[in-house]
Amino acid sequence: MRMSRHPVVIAPSLLAADFGRLAEEVKAVEQAGADWLHLDVMDGHFVPNISFGPVVIEAVRKVTRMPFDAQLMIEHPEQYTDAFVKAGVNHLTVHVEAEGLRDPNVLRKYLRDLRKRGVMPGLSVKPATPVEALRPFVDDIDQLLVMTVEPGFGGQAFLPAMVEKIRECRQWFTGIISVDGGITPQTAKLAGQAGATMLVAGTSIFRQPDYRAAIAALRAAAAS
Ligand code: DX5
Repeated sequence: MRMSRHPVVIAPSLLAADFGRLAEEVKAVEQAGADWLHLDVMDGHFVPNISFGPVVIEAVRKVTRMPFDAQLMIEHPEQYTDAFVKAGVNHLTVHVEAEGLRDPNVLRKYLRDLRKRGVMPGLSVKPATPVEALRPFVDDIDQLLVMTVEPGFGGQAFLPAMVEKIRECRQWFTGIISVDGGITPQTAKLAGQAGATMLVAGTSIFRQPDYRAAIAALRAAAAS
């Protein structure tokens, strides 16, 4: 049951774009109706993959007006805040499992500092982490990201067990609930019905022939 009928935010994940034509790809999804651009930052330690950092974000910042929604899948986000904010990130989501943020007081201060800088703070959990781990920080975040795959790679299959996690956190979080991983029109419907209000999608947008149709299909599915 949907708790509220917020408009759904569609955020294409840059990870699935053609990195040989990054600026064109970003412009194309913006023109195709994307709301935000999702940036999967990976350090090869927190997840078994390395993606990109501030220098790439700064480069694509110049070509679009879309808000940048960065997800730091890195062990020490606290060491790179200035670099990402300078690169032009508008929303910054970190993982409660990150080594540098394990101390709840450090994490709470980190999230509050982001807000003071005008950056939307978000928290995410890997599939194996109960979403209850985010409850103590509910007043310090504007976005809660439920990973619906094991983070690290695009093109994976949606984990149906995560739908219950979305439903659970919708009971006590009134902000943006985002889902990321294996999001297709079929899984977007499930996520939307459980209370998700933001969809991060790589394969089901950037690997489709028609970005506008792909984005519209996801938006319609989540609202159905
Ligand atoms: C996993 C990444 C992917 C990506 C979306 O760490 O976060 O979930 O954003 O990939 P697709 O939409 O291809 O599953």
